[in-house]
Amino acid sequence: MSQLPRHDSVLSLIGNTPLIPLPFPEEEITLLCKCEFLNPSGSIKDRFAQCVVADAERRGLLRPGSVILECTSGNTGIALAMVGAARGYAVTILMSEGASVERRHLLQRLGAEIVLIPAGQSYQSGIELTREMAARDSKYFLPRQFENPLNVEDHEQTTGPEIIAQVGRPVDAFVAGYGTGGSLGGCGRAIKARYPQALIAAMEPAEAELQAAECRCCFCIEGVAGKGFVPPLLREAPLDRVVKITAERAMEVTRMLHRRFGLLVGTSSGANVAASIEVGRTLPRGATIVTLLCDRAERYFSTPLFLR
Ligand SMILES: Cc1ncc(COP(=O)(O)O)c(C=O)c1O
Repeated sequence: MSQLPRHDSVLSLIGNTPLIPLPFPEEEITLLCKCEFLNPSGSIKDRFAQCVVADAERRGLLRPGSVILECTSGNTGIALAMVGAARGYAVTILMSEGASVERRHLLQRLGAEIVLIPAGQSYQSGIELTREMAARDSKYFLPRQFENPLNVEDHEQTTGPEIIAQVGRPVDAFVAGYGTGGSLGGCGRAIKARYPQALIAAMEPAEAELQAAECRCCFCIEGVAGKGFVPPLLREAPLDRVVKITAERAMEVTRMLHRRFGLLVGTSSGANVAASIEVGRTLPRGATIVTLLCDRAERYFSTPLFLR
């Protein structure tokens, strides 16, 4: 029997996720999907959480008694809570009252303190509140996922090279949605540097403008933006194309991933696969197309993905 890897903590389970082929014979397309939902807290965000905490420890910004503070309604909060638990730091998460109850449960189980922001209040006001809290009390450490360059650099140095090694041949297209832009920007940069001809495509929710008008935080494709908002980390990214996917299509494909492939993933993964199929239709048969499966289905029981 080959030697099984040894792990010394939950943190060493982060990254090195498998890449699996998903065949769509009716389209003559096979996608290569990076299984980021297999990270230990269940999402791609484990990578940033581990990287930002390790970097802060190296630079002496995190000490015993420090509190990690971030405004996030989603996977980043859960990932930071997991890393905080494993490294012995308290974690405080500011999140909207409207965020799903599954996320609240997970944060609480991981020992994080939750500060609720009224549902009508903007995300930006939550971010400003974290800044004010940090300015008043030096125990707070802010990961700042939306502006921290480590968010892109870590994907450029880990996720992107993993994809290149796992694929083992030129990549024709890389397709992903964006929230902070860290994964799309970082993987896109790594893949473009190695294969300059590769097409880098951003998946955007088709209802982005509607979401902006209603100020609902990405209700139907949680975790990904659009909303006419280009995250600062994406401004330098080598983007060649934007593919719009409706929430209905994202949910349809996500349910298909559950039933047909046994992949229990969340709505943004279905949206990424839907966008990749659209890109595949425009490329020669047999093109090598890579996408990300970002998080797990269990995070969506109380959302339209399961309720409709
Ligand atoms: C479910 C899900 N999909 C996609 C993304 C996009 O990731 P990024 O922030 O790297 O753009 C996120 C980010 O939180 C997410 O939670």
